[in-house]
Amino acid sequence: MKLLITGGAGFIGSNLTRLAHAAGHEITVVDKLTYAGNMSSLVDLLGQPRFTFIQADICDAETMRRVFMDARPDKVLHLAAESHVDRSIDGPGEFISTNITGTFTLLQAALGYWRTLSGSSRDTFRFVHVSTDEVFGSLGPSAPAFNETTAYDPHSPYSASKAASDHLARAWMDTYDLPVVVTNCSNNYGPYQFPEKLIPVVILKALRGEAIPVYGKGENIRDWLFVDDHARALLAAAERGVPGRTYCIGGDNERRNIDLVRELCGLLDEFRPRADGKKHDTAIAFVTDRAGHDLRYAVDARRARAELGWSPQEDFRSGFRKTVRWYLDHPAWTQGILDGSYRLERLGKSK
Ligand SMILES: NC(=O)c1ccc[n+]([C@@H]2O[C@H](COP(=O)([O-])OP(=O)(O)OC[C@H]3O[C@@H](n4cnc5c(N)ncnc54)[C@H](O)[C@@H]3O)[C@@H](O)[C@H]2O)c1
Repeated sequence: MKLLITGGAGFIGSNLTRLAHAAGHEITVVDKLTYAGNMSSLVDLLGQPRFTFIQADICDAETMRRVFMDARPDKVLHLAAESHVDRSIDGPGEFISTNITGTFTLLQAALGYWRTLSGSSRDTFRFVHVSTDEVFGSLGPSAPAFNETTAYDPHSPYSASKAASDHLARAWMDTYDLPVVVTNCSNNYGPYQFPEKLIPVVILKALRGEAIPVYGKGENIRDWLFVDDHARALLAAAERGVPGRTYCIGGDNERRNIDLVRELCGLLDEFRPRADGKKHDTAIAFVTDRAGHDLRYAVDARRARAELGWSPQEDFRSGFRKTVRWYLDHPAWTQGILDGSYRLERLGKSK
């Protein structure tokens, strides 16, 4: 397949791009390279056949129009977004611009291109809009998990902007027949995650012997999915997703944040014990909770399993071990972010 992947230099996008490239697909990545975009997450693909990188803003209508006409994709996997809840609280403007206006701009470009197609390429084209379970709001402790019929109830500027983009994507299907598929996935973890998100923060703070911050009492619950399993679900949605259909994707792996942090600390005790002989979890420090912090997310992924023929390949134990090992084995990747050098690598290496 010819895939157009937006946000391919980000956490999920880079893992998806690597997986899809290894599966033999031809890939064009479009990424603005914001602070969250990192060319060193794609460094092994630069210069390879079947891989093209374009640094561009999805809000730029003329460039998006040209990207579609040049790349002529069979499928679009739209991941480009502002994605960090805390940043959306401090500065929501970029979230409105990229997540809403950017998605609108991309849908328009996709529609213009799709209308030039005919026959089977028109029928099999898919625009996979990649979204989050956060659009559904927060669950009580024993409420049933989110599914495709759950009403939207977003609480943060991030989740509200993603919710808006989901509605736009569906409207382009209902109004213009653009073959859109929407996915709503739970929290991802794995290699190449920007060290502002919980799991890399815990690992890196622990390795540096610093306090490990946990919001509130650590009682918030998330459903964790290994990033490659999300990537496989997205490829399945691109290949087998029914236009107009939504698929909830999750790992069946609910954890309280505090339990997750303790599990990570336990793995670090095994792989990289502290020099002073103390357990890593002695460094846990509870900090003031995030405003509007949703208590619990959980996803019922039965439709994705039944209709897309997808299921996660990693369980919590195997995925966590892989993730901790990856951060231990790739200190240069995180160091490049921490010292800012990853931002200097931008255009020089792009193809
Ligand atoms: N991380 C998760 O746990 C999770 C879970 C469910 C859904 N999602 C969704 O998956 C997608 C990817 O998430 P992520 O965690 O990889 O995010 P990320 O922040 O790591 O990556 C986002 C990428 O988008 C790029 N980007 C931002 N604004 C852009 C613009 N205007 N034009 C072009 N590129 C732009 C960035 O440079 C970056 O490479 C997002 O849409 C997010 O809402 C994430």
